[in-house]
Amino acid sequence: MRQSSLVVVANRLPIDDNQAPDGACEWRRSPGGLVSALHPLLRHTPATWVGWAGGTGPAPALPDVDGVRMHTVALSPEDLRDHYEGFANATLWPLYHDSVEQPQHHRRWWEAYQRVNQRFAEATAEVAEPGAVIWVQDYHLQLVPGQLRALRPDLRIGFFLHVPFPPPELFMQLPRRAELLRGMLGADLVGFQRVQAAHNFAQLVTRVLELPATDRRIGIDDRVVRIGAFPVSIDTAEMAALADRPDVAARAHRLRQDLGDPRQVILSVDRMDYTKGIEQRLKAYSELLASGDVKVRDTVLVQVAMPSRERVGQYQILRERIEREVGRINGEFGRVGEPAIHYLTQPFDRAELAALYRVADVMAVTPLRDGMNLVAKEYVAARVDDTGALLLSEFAGTAAELSQAYLVNPHDLEGLKQGLRAALRASPADTTQRMRAMRAHLHQHDIRAWARSYLRALDEGGALISRLTSTETGSEGTARVPRPVAPTGSPAVHQGGT
Ligand code: ADP
Ligand code: F6P
Repeated sequence: MRQSSLVVVANRLPIDDNQAPDGACEWRRSPGGLVSALHPLLRHTPATWVGWAGGTGPAPALPDVDGVRMHTVALSPEDLRDHYEGFANATLWPLYHDSVEQPQHHRRWWEAYQRVNQRFAEATAEVAEPGAVIWVQDYHLQLVPGQLRALRPDLRIGFFLHVPFPPPELFMQLPRRAELLRGMLGADLVGFQRVQAAHNFAQLVTRVLELPATDRRIGIDDRVVRIGAFPVSIDTAEMAALADRPDVAARAHRLRQDLGDPRQVILSVDRMDYTKGIEQRLKAYSELLASGDVKVRDTVLVQVAMPSRERVGQYQILRERIEREVGRINGEFGRVGEPAIHYLTQPFDRAELAALYRVADVMAVTPLRDGMNLVAKEYVAARVDDTGALLLSEFAGTAAELSQAYLVNPHDLEGLKQGLRAALRASPADTTQRMRAMRAHLHQHDIRAWARSYLRALDEGGALISRLTSTETGSEGTARVPRPVAPTGSPAVHQGGT
């Protein structure tokens, strides 16, 4: 087994499977996201990515993609049901998002979570060279740091949580709260999106494990675990360059014509998830149509809602409710050839997304709770002419950074309507001033800056970080391999986000 000095461990591998023109299956490095952030480092270090390739059954052997080794962890149908769909996405996901849907608890799910985490830890222990740096990602793998430390105490282990970490009164509901906290404390550095999350974690550690903790350091056994906020970002320059391409500008122009050349286009792009506030947004829009504040001929709403976790009951119910409401609104307010809402559930390539962002006069990003929300950052990066208004929920991690957005509380229907009206009616001078400030922030705080600041903190005094200073971007990696079988509702296509 080849070993690496840097190992990234995440639920999903950073690759998408694509159909080549000759019909063969190609795996490509996912555009954007974590892999872009780490790409310069991964290329100059013997690096391995440990993750799931989607689907069930034996792990497909994948060739290196762009010099990065892909080490696949297999999930059985039971693991998929009880670990991914169960404990990760029906217990932790709703609980960590303010319990906007009721978290479910099943002992069988917890067993699967432990088992799958142990499998990831063992796979990582196998591919890590002595003293390697390991970076474990997200809520699917909270036990891995502790399990890995037990197997390989020589490693330097980092853990980063992409989703919110809830306040103590919510986390305390978890039957296995102590084990989850101990699992995370196997890391040398635990990173969160927001300072408040680090504070919640420190409070819980004090209360549940009775360990000495501040919002920066926790003492456990003979070690100190550091904690802190490292807000994740996007490849700002890449999105700006894409949006600036003449073919993307031309596509945006055609899209506006196809939409009936309205005076204003409102866009929302979400994974179909109950945390995204899609229903509240539709209700606000429908009331604005009913009151005449918004007129169909003047304004259109484009709602992209990409189906996600489709075998989980709460997601199935959500989709039915959203589709019924879109149908009602179009039936009531649309005209022949002029729907009030253009509703799309398809995956789009990056260029098409950039064209959509370019066409949107108002981008409505109004989640009830979101760890960060990269769509909001992508929109800002794509507004290369400094125009456009971002309507943003106070409950998205992004709001802590993009304070010049039109901020709204999505639970407050009147406030949401008022925010939408304000964004639609804002003067060009106001929107440009806000957009400029947000774009300047994102150019400085891009995904490379994020990876650099996290790894610097993790690799205190180590040599690894010096390699990250390279800003080379390299080419899109491609490798042709057999496609694993994707079960319904778990596409092999990765919609990397956070
Ligand atoms: P989450 O992590 O909850 O999915 P984010 O907003 O942080 O939310 O990230 C979502 C990511 O998925 C973004 O990079 C966005 O561009 C991408 N995405 C969302 N919808 C689509 C779609 N229909 N087609 C392709 N990519 C999409
Ligand atoms: O932001 C949370 C997250 O789980 C990401 O890690 C992931 O890329 C995205 O949501 C999509 O979710 P899933 O991997 O369940 O399709």
